[in-house]
Amino acid sequence: MKIGVVGTGYVGLVAGVCFADTGQRVVCVDTDPAKVERLRRGEVPIYEPGLAPLLARVMRERRIVFTTRHAEAVAGAAAVFLAVGTPEGPDGEPDLAALDAALADVLAALDGPLVLVLKSTVPVGTAARVRARVADAPHPVEVVSNPEFLKEGAAVDDFLRPDRVVVGTDSDRAFEVMQTLYRPFTLAGQPLLRMTNVAAELTKYAANAMLATRISFMNEIARLCDAVGADVKQVREGLATDPRIGKAFLYAGVGYGGSCFPKDTQGLIHVARRAGVDLRIVRAAEEVNDAQKRLLGERIRSRYGDDLTGRRVALWGLAFKPQTDDVREAPALVLARDLLAHGAEVVGTDPEALGTFAAALGDARMAYAADPYDAARGADAIALCTEWNEYRAVEFERLRGLVRTPWILDGRNVLDEVRARAAGFEIEGIGRGR
Ligand SMILES: NC(=O)c1ccc[n+]([C@@H]2O[C@H](COP(=O)([O-])OP(=O)(O)OC[C@H]3O[C@@H](n4cnc5c(N)ncnc54)[C@H](O)[C@@H]3O)[C@@H](O)[C@H]2O)c1
Repeated sequence: MKIGVVGTGYVGLVAGVCFADTGQRVVCVDTDPAKVERLRRGEVPIYEPGLAPLLARVMRERRIVFTTRHAEAVAGAAAVFLAVGTPEGPDGEPDLAALDAALADVLAALDGPLVLVLKSTVPVGTAARVRARVADAPHPVEVVSNPEFLKEGAAVDDFLRPDRVVVGTDSDRAFEVMQTLYRPFTLAGQPLLRMTNVAAELTKYAANAMLATRISFMNEIARLCDAVGADVKQVREGLATDPRIGKAFLYAGVGYGGSCFPKDTQGLIHVARRAGVDLRIVRAAEEVNDAQKRLLGERIRSRYGDDLTGRRVALWGLAFKPQTDDVREAPALVLARDLLAHGAEVVGTDPEALGTFAAALGDARMAYAADPYDAARGADAIALCTEWNEYRAVEFERLRGLVRTPWILDGRNVLDEVRARAAGFEIEGIGRGR
């Protein structure tokens, strides 16, 4: 089967490569000519574990091609997946300009019946809107809502072994096409859940809002732990061993970031508001998260005062989470901006995200270092924002000889406090009972 994929970002590229891996012929289209050029050379423009070797294989076997021309992706395709970005607009509502443009390009190139798959995360009601738009297309177009649940940093694995695949459609024919495409990934019994388009759209938002809420809930509990002298790690264990609660997404930290949770919680709040429903829990999850992202900056200022001139802070971890170079909505961005605004010297380090962070921050006053030791030279505080593996087993003795003030703020509770203290560091985590 030939399929088209529109947008070669974290989702589109991974989906295209994984479908090609199962033997489908895939044409990926992107409006960014530089990205397409790199992909044609076999270079992966993002950091995503496992993606490069898979891309190399499907390119070698000529099962995937990259183009800037939508017509090439649409011609003769049984299905076209729209996987363009749907970023948060200025008022918090998803900006669907890229999706609308992609849709127009696909329709202009339509040469036969098509299953049009909305893979991007879109507001509830988008499929209905798209269906109205394709109603007078010269060939029948069936609109499927197929939200993606992959996690950056484990995207390939998640796509190849999904927990479930959600397919929203009222068309049996379209559902059959989706069954055929996803069969290789659901052979181990993972459910392919058929539902209405609107339920599929809402499932995606609700899943992200639920996960975001768990994180914010735990961050609030962590604040209480700090206030009453409890250790959130012990509380977490006590909660996580209850099968009704489970253990995932219960880690206290400096808040969630990324391209999904912040924008999708906002998107859901807007969708609900339009429908006359006030989602108080989701609003609270967001509020807690915004406050949590400011926590380390506040702690640094409560120690050194609001004027941080002459103070040097090392930021360990700039990506919004480990195993990615994505810095969208990263807690480290909030902390860096806060510290720079108060006059601090800030030195950041990250195994993969130095380039994307510098581009997103756009503040020449921030400096960058190749590793955590270099970043820590002369520091008055080390703030760990992302729990990359390489920070977990850091040599505290060596570090002690480099810093000016031996103070570590472990924003992800991953460092060995006993060893840090033995080496002379003052170390504080999140919710460890300050
Ligand atoms: N990143 C994730 O972890 C993740 C997970 C699940 C769902 N999603 C959703 O998937 C969608 C895509 O996310 P992403 O992170 O892959 O985005 P991204 O920004 O990494 O990639 C989007 C790509 O689309 C391209 N593009 C924009 N307009 C285009 C057009 N008209 N035609 C062709 N290409 C076009 C851009 O150049 C870019 O390469 C979003 O709706 C997002 O919410 C993302």
